[in-house]
Amino acid sequence: NRTQVGIIGAGPAGLMLSHLLSRSGIDSVVIDNRTREEIENTVRAGILEADSARLLVDTGVSDRVLRDGHPHEGIDLRFGGESHRVDFRKLVGESVWLYPQTAVFVDLANARERDHGDVRFGVSGTEVDVTTPSMRFVDSDGRPQEVRCDLLVGADGSRSVCRNEVPESVRTHRSREYPFAWFGIITEAPRSAPELVYAHSPRGFALISQRTDTHQRMYFQCDPETDPSEWTDDRIWEELQARVAGPDGFTLKEGPVTEKTVLRFRSFVAEPMRHGSLLLAGDAAHTVPPTGAKGLNLALADVRVLSELIERALRRNDPAALDEYGPRALDRVWKAQHFSYWMTTMLHTLPGATDFDVRRQLGELASVVASESGSRYLAEGYTGRWPA
Ligand code: DHB
Repeated sequence: NRTQVGIIGAGPAGLMLSHLLSRSGIDSVVIDNRTREEIENTVRAGILEADSARLLVDTGVSDRVLRDGHPHEGIDLRFGGESHRVDFRKLVGESVWLYPQTAVFVDLANARERDHGDVRFGVSGTEVDVTTPSMRFVDSDGRPQEVRCDLLVGADGSRSVCRNEVPESVRTHRSREYPFAWFGIITEAPRSAPELVYAHSPRGFALISQRTDTHQRMYFQCDPETDPSEWTDDRIWEELQARVAGPDGFTLKEGPVTEKTVLRFRSFVAEPMRHGSLLLAGDAAHTVPPTGAKGLNLALADVRVLSELIERALRRNDPAALDEYGPRALDRVWKAQHFSYWMTTMLHTLPGATDFDVRRQLGELASVVASESGSRYLAEGYTGRWPA
């Protein structure tokens, strides 16, 4: 069994890469130890940069984002009990799309199926060999498989095993932990606001996001050790309402909570992103805290670059092209790391924060919304339109 590119991980990074490669006439096999249903039923973030949406549409994955997605031309930053709109369209001429990552996954999985791509969900016992590039695994029918390839791509997410195939002597892992987490819910209720609301409050951060006319997504900062089962619907709503309350009378439209999870997060970058025949993409190479929803967008930006370089390496006999991958991808990765860190630290309350810390944050938020330069800086990061 042979293929040109063996891809470990059938999330958005792995599937998009496989799709882009097949458009360049390069075949790949994608494996994942999760079943398709498991991936489809995991709630993930919901914001696509315009360039991410274009990638889905223009490369023929699907145009469902244009029909089922919602363009958002800005966000509200809420602090001191008042909302301040940051108008992305006016500031950088670009909007973003509210379109859940789960929908992106479904579109990609359907496109790979439509195009007869080789994607194996539900495999087990995966082993990769980077010296004689190959993947070994047991497929979902219990049959042992070995697939030899020219290149291996680790797109196996934030708990990547592929990244540990880069020897310790050459790799550097840089990370930052945060002393808080997000309590995320899905509620069956109408929208509370036309766009997303990022709220700073004395009780900590809250994010009011959306999904559909009937279901909404919301988060609030919590202790990482929080047990969701100790939170009744009443207690959740009381906390969320308190964090968005203000003199303008803004309140959330409540409904039954149909899903609740605690999301721990951190910042992480693994370098180099390439070691010999192994390349890392998406969360396997870098994780961002969720504030600003950069994770999926960064993964798609990685594989856009990677597919072009693999095409040069394998079809135009230019193996040195792969040397460009890390440097090109990491420029964006570190800008997004900074943006996600900045949004996180500007909006969350650190345990033990002093009055000084909180007033300084409010000063920062006030200067960001009052200054056109400050707002544009935020808009560039949020839309992923960083100046080169
Ligand atoms: C969502 C998640 C985010 O981290 C974010 O910044 C915006 C939206 C979401 O799940 O809808």
